[in-house]
Amino acid sequence: MSDPHAEAQLSKTEILARKNAEALLGGGQARIEAQHKKGKLTARERVDLLMDEGSFEEIGKFVMHRSKDFGLDKEYYLGDGVVTGYGTVNGRLVYVFSQDFTVFGGSLSETHAEKIVKIMDLAMKNGAPVIGLNDSGGARIQEGVVSLGGYADIFYKNTLASGVVPQLSAIMGPCAGGAVYSPAITDFILMVEDTSYMFVTGPNVVKTVTHENVTSEELGGASTHSAKSGVTHFSCANEVSCINHLKQLLSYMPQNCEETAPALPYEAADESRPVLDTIIPENPNQPYDIREVIEGIIDASSFLEVHQNFAENIVVGFARLGGRSIGIVGNQPSVLAGVLDINASTKAARFVRFCDSFNIPLLVLEDVPGFLPGTDQEWRGIITNGAKLLYAFCEATVPRITVITRKAYGGAYDVMNSKHIGADMNYAWPTAEIAVMGAKGAAEIIFKREIAQAENPEAKLQEKVDEYQQKFATPYRAAHRGFVDEVILPSQTRQKLIRAFKMLENKVDTLPRKKHGNIPL
Ligand code: HXC
Repeated sequence: MSDPHAEAQLSKTEILARKNAEALLGGGQARIEAQHKKGKLTARERVDLLMDEGSFEEIGKFVMHRSKDFGLDKEYYLGDGVVTGYGTVNGRLVYVFSQDFTVFGGSLSETHAEKIVKIMDLAMKNGAPVIGLNDSGGARIQEGVVSLGGYADIFYKNTLASGVVPQLSAIMGPCAGGAVYSPAITDFILMVEDTSYMFVTGPNVVKTVTHENVTSEELGGASTHSAKSGVTHFSCANEVSCINHLKQLLSYMPQNCEETAPALPYEAADESRPVLDTIIPENPNQPYDIREVIEGIIDASSFLEVHQNFAENIVVGFARLGGRSIGIVGNQPSVLAGVLDINASTKAARFVRFCDSFNIPLLVLEDVPGFLPGTDQEWRGIITNGAKLLYAFCEATVPRITVITRKAYGGAYDVMNSKHIGADMNYAWPTAEIAVMGAKGAAEIIFKREIAQAENPEAKLQEKVDEYQQKFATPYRAAHRGFVDEVILPSQTRQKLIRAFKMLENKVDTLPRKKHGNIPL
């Protein structure tokens, strides 16, 4: 569009008609077609898909940039590369910004940033989630520092809004340089496979600095960030799937930190689930899939797994139980025997903190042989990182329930939402083994001399292993002390949990007065 001042010649109605038409077109038909050719939707098409039909109200449609340098005084687009506003998703208020790649590559100018900050302010004051649909070439290069300042304004608001309203970021195109840090501060990131990427420095700089040859997709595509770095929580096959994931995610969340998530209607029925009685294998070292336990407990088809491809030795996600939204954290015995390592600890810690921020009760399914040993883990800081999960559970004041399905060994027993760190109800299945370590390791240490001096050391070791197993590889020692509230049949688990969460629904718990804690980052 040409210089807006020339429009003074046009009649008022003509100006309005023209502006409306151009606002709908973004950067023009050719650029829209180019966007479609890449397999991408436009900013407005995305908003239309996300919002309930007819509910979207745009804010700042006529905003234009204020720059004059590098030819910008001759190029203006209404809205300045971002569509912002509010509307409803499944009847609930949300605020959205959707970057328009057809206008200066969706790059962020001073005014583009102001529009985003404006809806974030509204979202915080009115207590509703903010959804960012990101598709941008980064800072508007022609604008220099005012664009960088615009990013910083957004980062600051993201941080202030953290824990006040849910913030979701869908990455639907480029997201590079410092621009990645806004999504990184938000609660969830979703990426679209093949058409989106995120990195701090792109392949060209990487090549210059480290001599590595890497494509954008390898460096920062959806599969890289969902499996290797854990930066994204969801990798979606296409934009439609990404938007459906956003809607589903929202359905488990309250609007803000003062509310609870909406519940679906629930009618009490026969809640016994005999299938759970046969899931744990006879041999305690044989794996099983914790997802089968989850499915056996929750309302049918209600599980939305988060971080599915990252740190698969722990499974986290949202579900419904008796119609109510819960967060689940479960050790996964079929991957690395369900051991806790650095990635599993940080993955679960972040999830626990999200649930606690937004009043979503937590269910922990525990089958953990301990922390992963080795130099790799120790040198990379399993101490600090494992402590994150411990800290997150200790600090959580939402209703918290643990079910120990099998192993609860060592420090991991304490960490995985034990009674000692504030869990409200702790159940164990009869197959639970709650001990300082596995029976063999324990016997080798405490009966070392006796075994060495025995006529048949192997038989002696076995005898001591059996002895230790009998004493500690059960839930009853912990139950005698009240560390486990009840030993339950697996088939009764769903019933017990529905009742216990109902009993806890009005729980009030507070932390000591402080400015904020100091989680071991
Ligand atoms: C201004 C930009 C732009 C930008 C793209 N465009 N990025 N304009 N500022 N940052 C414009 C292009 O000039 C082009 O205009 C149009 O958008 C489409 O871009 P193309 O290059 O034709 O598209 P494509 O081939 O798909 O490549 C997309 C891209 C590339 C990979 C994003 O445009 C690119 O590398 N852009 C620069 C990225 C960058 O270095 N950004 C600054 C990063 S630093 P025309 O008129 O030709 O259609 C940063 C710091 C943030 O963001 C710090 C925060 C703290």
